[in-house]
Amino acid sequence: MDILQIKELHKVYGKNELTNALNGITFSIQAKERVGIMGPSGSGKTTLLNIISTIDEPTSGKIVLTGEDAQQLSLKQRSHFRRKLGFVFQDFHLLYNLTVRENITLPLVMRQESKMLITERLVVLAKQLDIQSILDKYPFELSGGQAQRVAIARAIIHQPSLILADEPTGNLDSKASRNVMELLCSVQETEESTLLLVTHDPVVASYCHRVLFIKDGKLVNEIHLGANRQTFFQSIINTLSLLEGDLG
Ligand SMILES: Nc1ncnc2c1ncn2[C@@H]1O[C@H](COP(=O)(O)OP(=O)(O)OP(=O)(O)O)[C@@H](O)[C@H]1O
Ligand SMILES: [Mg+2]
Repeated sequence: MDILQIKELHKVYGKNELTNALNGITFSIQAKERVGIMGPSGSGKTTLLNIISTIDEPTSGKIVLTGEDAQQLSLKQRSHFRRKLGFVFQDFHLLYNLTVRENITLPLVMRQESKMLITERLVVLAKQLDIQSILDKYPFELSGGQAQRVAIARAIIHQPSLILADEPTGNLDSKASRNVMELLCSVQETEESTLLLVTHDPVVASYCHRVLFIKDGKLVNEIHLGANRQTFFQSIINTLSLLEGDLG
């Protein structure tokens, strides 16, 4: 089943000087899939995520998430649409005056969910993401890897259909990156969610089932996880160097 369908997406920025950030992108993602997006700086990756999350409007094209067309929504429906999404950012976006526990549970507290449900979700996620011992700390007391695991718990606590992650390991060293990716994948699997992740890092991309390559706002290549992660990693590197060759 397709959870997300993107059809002929175009985005033009500017009035006098125009930037074609997206030039007709079409793809779909199946439920429970992990899809990576790679491409040079300025190729339109963040624009694509912003449009899927309805933070930004496309110039033309279609976004359908769990059967709901993002272009046809009223304001009220739009906030409901966004609840189907979970966001993970490069710089964590934690609230610095709240504890880890408060940061994670905030989305459910704002929705006035029951205390029992909130505690139940917190306990399950804290265990899976290995953050039980830091629940009463403040964000400034955390390492980058811990902060990102907290941000993942917050992104997933409301059981979103789709997790959107823009460079989630961009501020982490390679060891913390791998740890965060392992935990993100395992929580995405147990929660039966779906992941769309932008990254520059081939190691991070190799945790996906499929990687889409975009250049100048166009989809130029797509590769699938084959026999194992090591060969997938190698094909990602090869595809990237081909792409860079094209640029030169
Ligand atoms: N709000 C905006 N107004 C005008 N132009 C924009 C805006 N946002 C992005 N752009 C332009 O659109 C193009 C795509 O930008 P985008 O941020 O999507 O790239 P990206 O692939 O995420 O790059 P990076 O890897 O550096 O994060 C760039 O040329 C950028 O300058
Ligand atoms: Mg970007």
